[in-house]
Amino acid sequence: MIFDPITVCNLDLQNRFVRSATQEFMAEEDGTPTGRLGDLYEELARNEVGLIITGYSYVLPGGQSDALQQGIYDDRFIEPYRKITERVHRYKSKIVLQVVHGGRQANISAEFPVPIAPSQVKNGHSSVVPREMTEEEILEMIEAFTKAAVRAKKAGFDGVQLHCAHGFLLSNFISPYTNTRADRWGGSVENRSRIITEIVRRIKEEAGPEFPIMVKLNATDGFRSGTAKAGLGLNAPECVEIAKLLEKAGVCAIEVSGGISEAGGVTIRTAINSPAKEAYFKNYSKMIKAAVGIPVILVGGIRSLSVMQCLIESGCADFISMSRSFISEPDLVPKLKSGKSSKARCVSCNLCFDPEGIRCNFEFD
Ligand SMILES: Cc1cc2nc3c(=O)[nH]c(=O)nc-3n(C[C@H](O)[C@H](O)[C@H](O)COP(=O)(O)O)c2cc1C
Repeated sequence: MIFDPITVCNLDLQNRFVRSATQEFMAEEDGTPTGRLGDLYEELARNEVGLIITGYSYVLPGGQSDALQQGIYDDRFIEPYRKITERVHRYKSKIVLQVVHGGRQANISAEFPVPIAPSQVKNGHSSVVPREMTEEEILEMIEAFTKAAVRAKKAGFDGVQLHCAHGFLLSNFISPYTNTRADRWGGSVENRSRIITEIVRRIKEEAGPEFPIMVKLNATDGFRSGTAKAGLGLNAPECVEIAKLLEKAGVCAIEVSGGISEAGGVTIRTAINSPAKEAYFKNYSKMIKAAVGIPVILVGGIRSLSVMQCLIESGCADFISMSRSFISEPDLVPKLKSGKSSKARCVSCNLCFDPEGIRCNFEFD
């Protein structure tokens, strides 16, 4: 089943493998995408990855969170991205641009000394205190995401994925820990989701109702029991309610993830060395999948073909998404398909975070 063609968001995919968004550290200083990114995506496409999601691409200059991160905040990026999507489309793969604003996890610079967020809640990881956004700034943010999506469409992307996970701006809004607003953008689950549903509404107006909009959704902020912040933040059953609101707004697929930087080590776990440790957000994706009709993509520590098949057969997910495994083995899909291997070789050491460009730096024997 996993190797069979399937349609999602009106896109005909050759299989159920998704390359999860992965910041590549390969753009220019100002966010301009480079030929290196094109090389990387083309290699994934040549190796039959059904859906490629790009690294997170910032929609406003102040929304950058990483060095050499790709941007989509200006029309000048359309042409270089077009070159990239053309290379991918020589193969059967589809490619979606992940769009983001860093929110309270954005970089601090002389130009942007204070990050913006729904509320002024200190980031316990960086000790930075963000500034609460005004109503006007929220409306401008919605337009920035909308313009980014229109640029993505013009550049030939098959859709966009709104990054609503991992402690960046849109996940700051849905979390009751980082959003303590008392206006129409805070409080109830519906209010906290409003910035996302408004972005979806506006993208549909400007890019057309058929242009695929996916979401990567935090199902939990990840504060562990036994820690000072246990019980705070986003968790089930609220994430299920948010997923339902996103479906109603017209989002066509939800990728389930979790964790914010402050919770530490939740999103990109290390030591995934047994099948039991794989797919560490599967309980959330199962809950969400049971509540919505749109496809659910699961990411987080998935390594073995047997686990992948079980996730699909047991109703935990419709699509299997991986990041580090594809850094280590861009040709993982053909290897699994041919029986040459039964699991990814990735040891989840996180040495792939290479500031000169992602790559597997683990020394295998
Ligand atoms: C080097 C690196 C960069 C990442 N960049 C992004 C990103 O840009 N956007 C995103 O949503 N997740 C990002 N992630 C998280 C992955 O998409 C994924 O959720 C996480 O690594 C768990 O999946 P895995 O076990 O298959 O690696 C990144 C992960 C890694 C290792």
